[in-house]
Order: sequence, then C-alpha cells, then structure tokens
Amino acid sequence: MIFESKVQLIEGQSPLEFLPRLSDYLKGPKIYIKRDDVIGRSSGGNKFRKYERIIGNAISNKCDTLIIAGHYQSNAARGLVGAACQLGLQSVVVCKDLIPNQNSTFLKNGNALLMNIMGAKIVQINKEDDYTLAMNIVARQTKKAGGRPYIIPFGGSNVLGSLGYADCVDELYEQSQTLSINFPDYIFTAMGSGGTQAGLISGIIRKNIPSKVVGISVLHKKEEAEKIVRDLTIQTLTELKINITPDKFINIDDTFIGEGYGITTPESIETIQLLARLEGIFLCPVYTAKAMTGLLAYIRTGKIRKNESVVFLHSGGSPLLYAYYDKFFN
Ligand SMILES: Cc1ncc(COP(=O)(O)O)c(C=O)c1O
Repeated sequence: MIFESKVQLIEGQSPLEFLPRLSDYLKGPKIYIKRDDVIGRSSGGNKFRKYERIIGNAISNKCDTLIIAGHYQSNAARGLVGAACQLGLQSVVVCKDLIPNQNSTFLKNGNALLMNIMGAKIVQINKEDDYTLAMNIVARQTKKAGGRPYIIPFGGSNVLGSLGYADCVDELYEQSQTLSINFPDYIFTAMGSGGTQAGLISGIIRKNIPSKVVGISVLHKKEEAEKIVRDLTIQTLTELKINITPDKFINIDDTFIGEGYGITTPESIETIQLLARLEGIFLCPVYTAKAMTGLLAYIRTGKIRKNESVVFLHSGGSPLLYAYYDKFFN
C-alpha cells in the first residue's frame, strides 16, 4: 500500500458539458466533454489530477525540488512548473528538442513561453542524451547544493498519477447522476504516457461500470501502447486491492498519429477548427485534436451508434495552439 498524501491543486470538479452543436452536426450519439483543460493553474490540464498525489508524495518525503523530463512544448513540464510556483517549491525541467520545430518561434511560444514567464529552470540536453541519466545528474547537483530533489515519473504516469484518474471516474459518475444522464458507453482520451487511460480503466473497473475507455495514441504503436496501459492498470488495480485481469478493458487505437508525435495531420487541424467553430472549445494540436479526430471517425463510420453516449476527456494543452499558429494561416 502506497502511503498516500495529496496536495490540493484542483478546486472542485471539472465541468461536464453537453456539446449540442457537435452532436447535431454529426447526427450521431450525444457527446459530452469533461473539461479537464480548465483544472489547475498555469493553463490547466490532465496533469494536475496526477500531480496532486505525486507532489503530495514529494512533500511528504520532505523534497523541495521537483525534476521533470520534457520538451520545450511539454504540457507536463509547464503544468509541473506551475504547480511548483503555486506551492513554493523549486522545479527543474530537463529539456530535449523532441518535436521537429514547426516554425521559427516554436521554441519561444506556447508552453515554452509560459515556462519562461514562470521563471522555469531549464536544463538543456541533446536529442541523443538519456533523460533518466540527466535527471539523476540534476538530482545529485540539487543535493550537493543543499536541496532535496524528487524525480517526477515521465508524463506523471505511475500508480500515484493514475489514482487521480480512477477518482475522475467517481467524479464523472456523480456528475452523470446530477445531470440525470446515463454513465457514458464510451470515454475517449488521448494516450501518451498512459497514466490517464490506465487510471480511467481502473476507475470504471472499481465502479463496476460497463463503459469502454478508448485511448487514441499520439505516440506509441498499438502493441507498445497496450503494454504500457495494461502494466500500469494492473499496478493501479493492485494498489486498489482489485484482483482483475484488465486485458479486455484495454482499447487503443494508433491510427490517428500521422507522421509522428507532435506533428499535426490535416484532419487534426480541421478538428481543432470544427470544435472551435461549433462549440467555442479549443483543442490542442499534439494530444486532444488527434483524440477528437479519432472520436469523430468512430461516429462517422458507425462504430459508435446514435443511441450510445460518449464523454470526451479534454485533457488540456491549448497553449500549444500558439506554438503551432502557422498551421492555421494559409
Ligand atoms: C493535453 C494532454 N492530453 C493527454 C495527454 C496524455 O496523457 P497520458 O500521458 O496520461 O497518456 C497529455 C500528456 O502529456 C497531455 O499533455
């Protein structure tokens, strides 16, 4: 049993909103959106549910310097720096130039800009350098300087992070009851490091709800993604003392990645425009636009039927729009 201590980074519940114009436009099922893009400081996002326990663990171990690996447009890094600012902790981002530069201001806009404004300490490493090694070096230097370092797992994806998304299912359940709607047949999410999906799956298993959690991979091929989510779900269920093999709950689709992580597709750009124009909601070019593109395709091809219902998890990332501004002017 993990000793659990949480810090509060989220005020109340994230809104669960119906998307009437998108639902009408597709002439398909009712689509709801869970607005995790508006939870947490520094422009919000899914990481804050994960960080409540991860940073709680750091604080209970008396650590004062949070170290994370990321890239210049990382939502996870920007969120961590924001949470550290809020809590009066130090943070260090070990940064690689991971995404091919999209335009001449790519390294100074979007999340890079927000991290700069928050005074983030960035340690630059080369593409071929190893993240773990580099974070360990920063941790040693921190100790030498009298600090107490804590290394954040990649993307905030470990059991502590996933538990935040198991709890999100309980929140969603409560909101569905308040709105007098059935718990959704499908929950769609972007899948990167896997903690969000593993947590959601653990949550629906814990609540014994027959919903299907579909993870649209933005990075890993299907087999690899399935392994990541399966392993983390097993660990999370073990922590929750639930003895179930989760294999039949793991649904990953890797067909919306396009050319690679952080590279937009014509469809993902269209999806961003569609959501903005129909509902006034901004998706992000790296994660949620591809996840929503997947959901639209499932509806258009009849994989999800009209009498079913869907919740799309908006996991955040809209600051990335500014870094990808050139994709919208042509
Ligand atoms: C906006 C956004 N959505 C989704 C994800 C993917 O979540 P996970 O890494 O838990 O799979 C991330 C991860 O960085 C993200 O920033």
